[in-house]
Amino acid sequence: MDDLVTITYKGKSYQLPVIIGTENERAVDILRLRNETGFITYDPGFANTGACKSSITYMDGEKGILRYRGIPVEELAEKSSFKETAYLLINGQLPTETELRKFSIMLNDNSLVHEDMKTFFQNFPRASHPMGILSAMVNALRSFYPELQTSEEEINLTVTRLLAKVRTMAAMSYKISRGHTVVYPRPDLAYCENFLNMMFNTPVTPYVLVKEVVRALEVFWILHADHEQNCSTTAVRVVGSGRVNLYAAISAGISALWGPLHGGANQAVIEMLNEIYRGGGDYRKAVTRAKDKNDPFRLMGFGHRVYKTYDPRAKIMKRMCDNLLKTLNLKDPLLDIAKELEEVALKDAYFIDHNLYPNVDFYSGIVLRAIGIPTNMFTVMFAIGRLPGWIAQWKESMDDPAWRISRPRQIYTGPTETHYVPMSERQTA
Ligand code: CMC
Repeated sequence: MDDLVTITYKGKSYQLPVIIGTENERAVDILRLRNETGFITYDPGFANTGACKSSITYMDGEKGILRYRGIPVEELAEKSSFKETAYLLINGQLPTETELRKFSIMLNDNSLVHEDMKTFFQNFPRASHPMGILSAMVNALRSFYPELQTSEEEINLTVTRLLAKVRTMAAMSYKISRGHTVVYPRPDLAYCENFLNMMFNTPVTPYVLVKEVVRALEVFWILHADHEQNCSTTAVRVVGSGRVNLYAAISAGISALWGPLHGGANQAVIEMLNEIYRGGGDYRKAVTRAKDKNDPFRLMGFGHRVYKTYDPRAKIMKRMCDNLLKTLNLKDPLLDIAKELEEVALKDAYFIDHNLYPNVDFYSGIVLRAIGIPTNMFTVMFAIGRLPGWIAQWKESMDDPAWRISRPRQIYTGPTETHYVPMSERQTA
């Protein structure tokens, strides 16, 4: 039968249902497995576990496909705005003109940050990483906006607040870290323009918006907007499954994203390229080190759990990187190193055998540098982009009729029952 899988253990057979997604992805439903057989499944890092059904994002790692709500990311990067893509992810379809206008008004109305929050920012030690600050501040939003999040209207308000304020808070933390006056959001500017203005405008040098820079930021955020059940999204879903408030769930996602194997890779890539540059530009040494099993070094911006081919986002990012530098008449030696590194790695047997290709983070840091974003803010930029995805996934999980609190099992490998030994009888090593 097509819709059942049979497993046999010690002569006894059990049948488990098969679930098939709209793109023919297949899963064995193991919900009854433990009750019927006494077995649990073992899958470290959840590499082969489907934790939910989702209609938000589709990825095919073998073919290099990424679609939000069915729309290829390439089309969105060419034709959409970040705001529209955020609406698409969160609400399930592209907005009409009226819906988009209403969404913009709500974002503008909620873009200011409570003035009392400024003192929080000012009291973080100067060397604090902006991701730590952002995660703490998003969690703190709950104290400033303690309203319930149960009706659709309340949830929509919380969602809009997050989308509008995270952008303001990110720019604010940058300004305060530099000891500069905070620039407030302007209702006449669009989402990305507003962010750039809040980041770079000063009373001495007014920031001039450049069309190509605004578009680059727009595309950067669209490319990061969702990526199905990755580490930070899973954190949002798992933390949210305890029915915690949305701010706390998103704050958990920000913390998870910070890691260098996940969103923190964009900062790690630039640090790696800088190190190669400062060391004389020997990119081949980095490839050799990445292959050495006795060296913990990895080629940052390479490899992906799902993509076993070129990350479709990296293709767009690389093209955009070239165009942006050309338009701005900038020369970045790190781009040359990145391209040479990529060329050598893609021809190397280790990288070919392991299916290691550049991922979204490989070229994104060079785009951000060209825009003027400081390196320690790179992962914050990823977080702002990923926010609509986290929100969409959280909403979907809250509405899921199959929702249950996240609670995996384990295979215990510790001591069997043993007894307390009084201090006087313990052996010294
Ligand atoms: N450089 C060298 N070797 C690598 C790399 C790398 N960047 N990535 C994976 N490998 C090797 C790894 O050593 C292992 O080799 P072996 O099988 O011989 O022991 C094999 O490839 C499989 O690696 P894995 O760690 O089991 O793969 P994973 O799916 O658990 O990890 C990853 C995926 C992204 C964490 C990993 O590829 C990595 O550490 N990459 C560098 C960090 C990075 O660029 N992260 C950004 C990911 S994209 C943005 C996002 O969505 O988070």
